[in-house]
Amino acid sequence: MTKLKWWQTAVFYQIYPRSFADGDGDGIGDFKGIIQKLDHLQDLGIDAIWLSPHFPSPNWDFGYDISDYLGVAPEYGTLDDFKTFLAESHQRNIRVILDLVLNHTSDQHPWFLESKSSRDNPKADWYVWVDEPPNNWQSCFDGDAWTYVPERDQYYYHYFMKQQPDLNWHNLEVKQALWDAARFWLDLGVDGYRLDAIGTIFEDPNLTPHNVPMKLAELRRASELAQSPAQKKKVEKYWRDMFKNQIGGPGLHDLMKELRAVIDEYNGDRVLIGEDENIDFLGNGDDELHLVFNFPLADLDRITPRQIRRNQRERIARLKRLPKGGWACNTLGNHDRSRLHSRYGDKIHDAALARLNAALVLTLRGTPFLYYGEEIGMTDLIITDPARLRDTMATWYYERLVNELKVDPAEAALRAGEMSRDKNRTPMQWSNSPNAGFSPPGVETWLRVNPNYKDGINVRDQEHNPNSLLNYYKHLLRVRKHTPALLEGDYIPLHNTAKDHFAFIRKSNDQTVLVVLNYSDSKLDLDFSRNKEIKGKSLHTLFSSAVRSRVDLDPKSIHIGAFEVFIAEVK
Ligand code: NOJ
Ligand code: MG
Repeated sequence: MTKLKWWQTAVFYQIYPRSFADGDGDGIGDFKGIIQKLDHLQDLGIDAIWLSPHFPSPNWDFGYDISDYLGVAPEYGTLDDFKTFLAESHQRNIRVILDLVLNHTSDQHPWFLESKSSRDNPKADWYVWVDEPPNNWQSCFDGDAWTYVPERDQYYYHYFMKQQPDLNWHNLEVKQALWDAARFWLDLGVDGYRLDAIGTIFEDPNLTPHNVPMKLAELRRASELAQSPAQKKKVEKYWRDMFKNQIGGPGLHDLMKELRAVIDEYNGDRVLIGEDENIDFLGNGDDELHLVFNFPLADLDRITPRQIRRNQRERIARLKRLPKGGWACNTLGNHDRSRLHSRYGDKIHDAALARLNAALVLTLRGTPFLYYGEEIGMTDLIITDPARLRDTMATWYYERLVNELKVDPAEAALRAGEMSRDKNRTPMQWSNSPNAGFSPPGVETWLRVNPNYKDGINVRDQEHNPNSLLNYYKHLLRVRKHTPALLEGDYIPLHNTAKDHFAFIRKSNDQTVLVVLNYSDSKLDLDFSRNKEIKGKSLHTLFSSAVRSRVDLDPKSIHIGAFEVFIAEVK
């Protein structure tokens, strides 16, 4: 095997700490809980954890509004608990990357409290202050992007909530403070960072207004009501136009290069992964970020063989064009999106489609990211009682719908529940016992537990069932780990016009593997014998989601069951 870096072969698993495991029984996940569950992750076979923010936060955006970059949120534990978590993870050969939020802090961060206190304090220029709102920019969470502060008789800019003021990255002290924060955790031994919302760090220096003839809540409502293709196209354009001047401003690439230099001061191949789909963030392939996410794949309304092929063609070509080459990174779920099981289901074959899509992420070329609970098939839980919503942006949307847009409260509650990110952040389902084993019985969990833990969607029940999704993931992860072509091989698409199935080869120096994903409910009889990589050889089954009686197969006639995942070595 050629020498790949650990982050190229690793499978990452995202933990949303609030929702993973409650070790102290207060209804909120914490480090004690995570540590108790590391064995589950080791059994599952993942190699690295991405931990969503664990820092002290007033929790308007659950850790994405940080009030101390060097601390641990008290509800999650202490710095010592963090260190234990890190050591216990490393002991199990599981790396840990943290979430680094650069664009903004909490409005309760001492830096902001100082900055807002007067126009001439030492941190007066650490945030983005103006005398008058210079334009109609919107906060992507709710309302205007400029908020008034009487102490300064000025406004500050915030791309996200008003509780998340944007830092002024033109100020060198700001940069220094954030690089110091990054170093603090690197010194403790963390393996890298997922970089939050990097695209929002710099805005259009001309402050060009947007030209969308409505406010954010109206646009959201218009998207919900859009029926015809023309209406849908129009709202899509509005979404792009509304925020386009607030993202991707000049300076970002130099900044990423600087951060890369900070990371490279450390040994052990620490990694930077940008929350962005733009391959430009990889620089020349070796001087900015190591990875960006393939969000265009996750953004597809329906995952079809044709769409996947197109996505792979475009992404891989772009990565190859980088002077030093770039590495792919695929995911179908995180704390901001509807869960894989719900989003890509068709309501009839959801379970089968979830297995297919898991196999997709784990066999495509690139580093896979899984989201907690995906391995047991957790689904979205739409919260329709506005009082039980926890995602602030959804609460605010509900209020706008009812109070300003005069939408019927029942309809508003449903819409707010659907757009809320609460639906995909419910507590992890560990067992078929009260609170799904996330918190002790009788405790009120911070966010509702999805009652479907009683229907087998929990770790304990699935551990004992050889046919469970959990065991399917474990098996697939093992096969991946022991199949060099799946880790490092090139991607060669086959059967390029097939609508029902997606077939491709992964080819490394010493191994060739065929992957077939049948996205249809029909059985297929496929001929691979004419492909030049396969011609004259036979297929040795490595993995199948179906029951197969024979292991070695003639490529001339391969029978693939409905929704089957089939992986075979070409020998
Ligand atoms: C992206 C994060 O994934 C999301 O959860 C958060 O609300 C925003 N950035 C703001 O930090
Ligand atoms: Mg707790």
